[in-house]
Amino acid sequence: MPQLIAGNWKMHCLAADALALARGVAAGAGGITAELLVCPTALHLAAVAQALKGSTVAVGGQDCHYARQGAHTGDIAAPMLRDAGASWVILGHSERRQNHGETDELVREKTLAAVEAGLNPIVCVGETADQRAGGQETEVVGWQLAGSLPKPFTGVVAYEPIWAIGSGKTATDEDVAVMHAFIREELIRQFGDPGQTIRILYGGSVKPANAASLLAVPNVGGALVGGASLNPQEFLAIARAAQAG
Ligand code: PGA
Repeated sequence: MPQLIAGNWKMHCLAADALALARGVAAGAGGITAELLVCPTALHLAAVAQALKGSTVAVGGQDCHYARQGAHTGDIAAPMLRDAGASWVILGHSERRQNHGETDELVREKTLAAVEAGLNPIVCVGETADQRAGGQETEVVGWQLAGSLPKPFTGVVAYEPIWAIGSGKTATDEDVAVMHAFIREELIRQFGDPGQTIRILYGGSVKPANAASLLAVPNVGGALVGGASLNPQEFLAIARAAQAG
């Protein structure tokens, strides 16, 4: 399976910048064997999806509600993302868990809604600096996996140590190897054989300079890229560092 290189644009880009960024990525995507995905703010998703039509770059949302529709002011339903041209959605990102109090249970409900709407979910897990300092990182991630993933699970998991997000600090290749091996074991324990092939992305300050070594770590199925995804050349350089299938 090819590696997945996903750009999380977070709350960045006005409309014109989002379109320029999307076109920049699509223009350089030729010859890249990794699967490419960009996740703009929901407001620009339809325009970005339109601009990327016919390209090899897929579009995803950054969150969705657990309900199909209803009285949920300000929220966005999974079928709306799908309708706007998304085929993926990031769920349970640590910024959602921290800033919006999202629990594992809520993330699981959202994941179910996403799958029902025909979206591929990317479910994020990861420990804080304090949890790692206390030696609890695998325990924390184990609980998150057990609580956030519905059964069966057909999506992608992203391991993003919170202390590495936007900080310029990356986990060492060794730390990533240990955690991804643990996540693989947990996925097999939870889901049996299908757990062998679920892609596990690494995220947290992935840059062109560290992408090749991170993407070569066993059980790393791609990258979830924040800051560097806002520059098409950097994002494409990361994608070119991906392993071919
Ligand atoms: P970063 O963000 O690459 O800027 O660290 C990653 C993420 O939050 O998905």
